[in-house]
Amino acid sequence: MTEFSKPYGEKYRPQFHFSPPAKWMNDPNGLVYYQGEYHLFYQHNPDDIVWGPMHWGHAVSKDLMHWEHLPIALAPNEHGTIFSGSAVVDWHDTSGLFSGGHGLVAIFTHADECLETKQHRQRQSIAYSLDKGRSWRFYDENPVLADPNEPDFRDPKVFWHEDSEKWVMVLAVGTRIRFYGSPNLKEWEFLSEFTGGCTASVWECPDMFPLAVDGNPENLHWVLLVDVQDGGPTGGASPMYFIGDFDGVTFTPHKQQADNLWLDYGRDVYAGVTWSDIPAEDGRRIFIAWMNSWQYANEIPAPSWRGAMTVPRTLELRSSAQGLSVVQNPVQELESLRKGRTTIPAQAVEGRLELEQEFSECLDLELEFVANGAEEFRLQLVSGDQEATVVGYNFTTQQLFVDRRRSGEVDFSPAFAGVHQAPLVTEDGKISLRILLDKSSIEVFANGGQAAITDLIFPREGSRRINLTSEGGSTQVRKLNIYPLASVWK
Ligand code: FRU
Repeated sequence: MTEFSKPYGEKYRPQFHFSPPAKWMNDPNGLVYYQGEYHLFYQHNPDDIVWGPMHWGHAVSKDLMHWEHLPIALAPNEHGTIFSGSAVVDWHDTSGLFSGGHGLVAIFTHADECLETKQHRQRQSIAYSLDKGRSWRFYDENPVLADPNEPDFRDPKVFWHEDSEKWVMVLAVGTRIRFYGSPNLKEWEFLSEFTGGCTASVWECPDMFPLAVDGNPENLHWVLLVDVQDGGPTGGASPMYFIGDFDGVTFTPHKQQADNLWLDYGRDVYAGVTWSDIPAEDGRRIFIAWMNSWQYANEIPAPSWRGAMTVPRTLELRSSAQGLSVVQNPVQELESLRKGRTTIPAQAVEGRLELEQEFSECLDLELEFVANGAEEFRLQLVSGDQEATVVGYNFTTQQLFVDRRRSGEVDFSPAFAGVHQAPLVTEDGKISLRILLDKSSIEVFANGGQAAITDLIFPREGSRRINLTSEGGSTQVRKLNIYPLASVWK
């Protein structure tokens, strides 16, 4: 069993984000809510701090913030290692695995090598648990879905499709999505195929779900999330999405979508998926992603563990003059970690304003400002004499940005240092930002989640000072609240 007693006190160890007790982690897997617990499984190499033979690590939480580590749920067997996938509650025992009761079924990719061709092979398998996810059995007739012609055939996301009364699997196949249907999670038939958007590199870790436009349950559309391993807006791995309709067989994207829609414009959101079986009375669509990028994940300066998740986020569909888009915000449970508040009085800033206080490394900030002639407004999070991570908005180019070129340790990979920008228009002249800072990450949500930038950072020094700069004119700061956040691991 893995050593669970780590204090989470290492230099860059996230304090309010999930990270494994030790060793390597990548994608979140098997997100499912069942009997009062949010399950989080994850791609895990228990023997090293680089990617290797994949297992499913496992943790549970009652509030999405504090996690209890559980033993490894799925380990490699005769069909191969355990790649990404999903989990569902089989409420009505459609699978026949629960003697008429209900339980958890995990649907994942078994990855191995074909004996004859020596090529890598990916097939879908299932496993089930009769004890709230504490122990798992592989189904004896695995794999349940194979296609010898497709080497990249992975990451099944399964959901129950109410209208057509069947399970639907969304699968990444090369640079396409395939949909399969099943009455029982064991036998799968091909439904349809979809491609579009960015096909610069292989697609991975899809998800698909309906969302209400502006909260109106009468106006539902489907969102298909897909990750591209390379070629995203910042040059690397990125989550793209499509908005459209799904009739139980085919996904049809809306015509409005001329450009690619990206869920996050930073470098460090990948393989994000959403929780299954959130109770209707809660009704949220909750998303979490691996906060890292394949471009340098194996090299980040973390000596005993590697990989963290983003903060859990709610996804909603919002209409605006630009059309429909998915907006995202940290789940409200995060606010329970706030301890105290510093409020900076509303004021006009011209040039630089240094805040006097020193802050801790884990912060939740709310900032609102309007242009008053300025071209650019920046908030700098400073550590030591040399290092600063900059969050800014350029009123002329209408771009939100995070600049991590001087954020701390950057030279472990040539792909790391950089400025990442997201298109963002002001709302009545205003920009409002929610910024989450942990020991090795920054997440910026702008204008109610209309744009997001998530980046890893590795500042060497402990505390943070903050300054504001308005360039080319003045900026009216309407609000700046700074909340230190408690560690969830203490
Ligand atoms: C995405 C991914 C998945 C695959 C898993 C393997 O990050 O490449 O497509 O299932 O990682 O660990």
